[in-house]
Amino acid sequence: MTPSSDRIVYRPLKKHELISAARLKFSVIAEAWAPHVYPIRQLLTRRSPESEARGNLPIWRRGRVFGAFASGTLVGVSRAIFGYHNEVSDLWVFAPSRECGIGSMLFGRAEAELRRRGIRTARLYTAAFNSHAIAFYRARGWRIERRNMHRTSHVRRVRMIKRLR
Ligand SMILES: CC(C)(COP(=O)(O)OP(=O)(O)OC[C@H]1O[C@@H](n2cnc3c(N)ncnc32)[C@H](O)[C@@H]1OP(=O)(O)O)[C@@H](O)C(=O)NCCC(=O)NCCS
Repeated sequence: MTPSSDRIVYRPLKKHELISAARLKFSVIAEAWAPHVYPIRQLLTRRSPESEARGNLPIWRRGRVFGAFASGTLVGVSRAIFGYHNEVSDLWVFAPSRECGIGSMLFGRAEAELRRRGIRTARLYTAAFNSHAIAFYRARGWRIERRNMHRTSHVRRVRMIKRLR
């Protein structure tokens, strides 16, 4: 079901809802990333998506997580991390809900949260093969700052940067 963009509710997630955000992430990774990345596919077959999500939960407790709800169901998330790292992270939208503005809204919420906290320079990471996401970020004023390899998954990734006004 493609939700009508005017029916989407955007709000920060409560603590008990973070597990749903982690589940959404692993479901999107399985669909969008696994065909590209052997280590991630291996990771997904070794552990169930549920145990991946539960293992990932401490990460979701850092920063502020925003959710998009269609008829009460979580269909997308984003996360603003502040403090030592100032990042927009974990932008994930369920495939049937894409291309109707949800990703842009969630991304905007996370950016605005960093700006509100007086952060001038924000960063994000994405996989180097994820040309769709890189184009999405570029269209929103971000540029590639450097390329490196993720320490544990060995996925080539890019770090992007944006000066927030
Ligand atoms: C990247 C991602 C989050 C974008 O989410 P999305 O909800 O599709 O994003 P939007 O709908 O806001 O924008 C996507 C495109 O659709 C267009 N769009 C926005 N609203 C639209 C509408 N009402 N009708 C048609 N198209 C629309 C936008 O113009 C945008 O194109 P642009 O980047 O050239 O501006 C999503 O594709 C995704 O979850 N991908 C898999 C996971 C992933 O790679 N995440 C990033 C990890 S770093």
